[in-house]
Amino acid sequence: GSDVVRRDRFSGGPARSFLSSLAADERIFAADLAVDRAHVVMLAERGIVGDDEAARILTALNIVEVNGHGSLPDGEDVHAAIETAVIDEIGPVGGKMHTARSRNDEVAACIRHRLREDLLDAVEATLLLRESLAGVAEEHVETVMPGFTHLQPAQPTTVAHWALSYEQALRRDTARLLDAYGRVNRSPLGAAAFAGTTFDVDRERTAELLGFDEVVDNAMDAAAARDFLAESAGALAVLATTLSGLAEDLVLFANRGYVDLSDDYSSTSSIMPQKKNPDTLELVRACAGDASAGLDGLLTTLKGLPRAYNRDLQRATPHAWRAVDAVTEATEVAAGAVATATWSEAELAAAAGEGFSTATGVADLLARHGLPFRTAHEVVAVAAQRAAERTSGSAASHAAEQGADVAAVEAAAAEVLDEPLSTYVDPAAVEAALDPARSVESRDSVGGPAP
Ligand code: ARG
Repeated sequence: GSDVVRRDRFSGGPARSFLSSLAADERIFAADLAVDRAHVVMLAERGIVGDDEAARILTALNIVEVNGHGSLPDGEDVHAAIETAVIDEIGPVGGKMHTARSRNDEVAACIRHRLREDLLDAVEATLLLRESLAGVAEEHVETVMPGFTHLQPAQPTTVAHWALSYEQALRRDTARLLDAYGRVNRSPLGAAAFAGTTFDVDRERTAELLGFDEVVDNAMDAAAARDFLAESAGALAVLATTLSGLAEDLVLFANRGYVDLSDDYSSTSSIMPQKKNPDTLELVRACAGDASAGLDGLLTTLKGLPRAYNRDLQRATPHAWRAVDAVTEATEVAAGAVATATWSEAELAAAAGEGFSTATGVADLLARHGLPFRTAHEVVAVAAQRAAERTSGSAASHAAEQGADVAAVEAAAAEVLDEPLSTYVDPAAVEAALDPARSVESRDSVGGPAP
């Protein structure tokens, strides 16, 4: 079969380095040792190899581990190289290690074993970031800030409301990673090349020794399946998308002076001495590219592969590492940047009312006093338009930039309703509705920004 490594015929040639994954396999060196050990223990327990033989192989594996990946002999991959190293160490008996298995089930087990760890690191990073965001929220329950739609001033909200909006999204990201983990954590060992084995192996036992929850039942599926890689990269790509939005918000907020990033998460310019740039967050934003590249690389490589094993799979694996490395690091960096940033309450308060952001609350108020909401919307829209006309072209004062005041709403009421505003509502109540902090306080519906 294709899995036989014949050193005489297949050990050289110009494509040797193209074929070899040995360098990239450093990532699964430790996993392969664990998989080898579990397999050898199972073989001995089943009487497939003698206890003495197993002991010698396990001793050789210890030596291989101490020598490290860098000392491995040349080989097509880490699995072949470790086997060669074991045989070099203890002689031909080392060749018994590969009884009742193939590199196909072996490599699948190694990838799952390693990815498991990496996914848990990614999960932990999401927890860190969620803690950072919760910390910001706790500190800024009452810190009013502008909220945006289409990047235009929309309605005032609070820093806590903003921070928790990302915390909630990240909760789902954590859950998606854990869900993927559950399907990664299954053992393909014992599938051999794809067609099972004549030896009386105990698949449950190797799964147990390696901490897998269960075995991947069908041997052909066990050798062929890499959907666990695509699924993990998918969860990471979604997480990266969440991160990119968070990073973008913070870059914008830093630009407007709402937030000041700590120096540790900023960079300067090689020419402009005054610069303090939010580079780390830009790099966090860019990691969505790594994640979706990893996912795309996986899907494109896996698409249309026939059963059962094809060497294409060797080139699939690194795409997953790329995604998990980039996204985990970006998540950790985002956690640090969020935890150490300072929010400028004065800037935020000043900006919160800009662009007549309390207009919706004024319309709500009129509607609560009996006007159909659509009519109330029209009154306030006219007030906004008149206020904009008043300030456009002029060197608008800060107060004017705020948009409409009570007088503007009164004028609009007279224009649209043909009746004074006071027929419908106390102008003092309108005054209150125009205040960003009051506006936030009054939006106490479930999930709203009220403290
Ligand atoms: N290094 C290979 C991989 O990563 C495993 C080796 C299986 N090789 C083979 N010719 N069946 O997929």
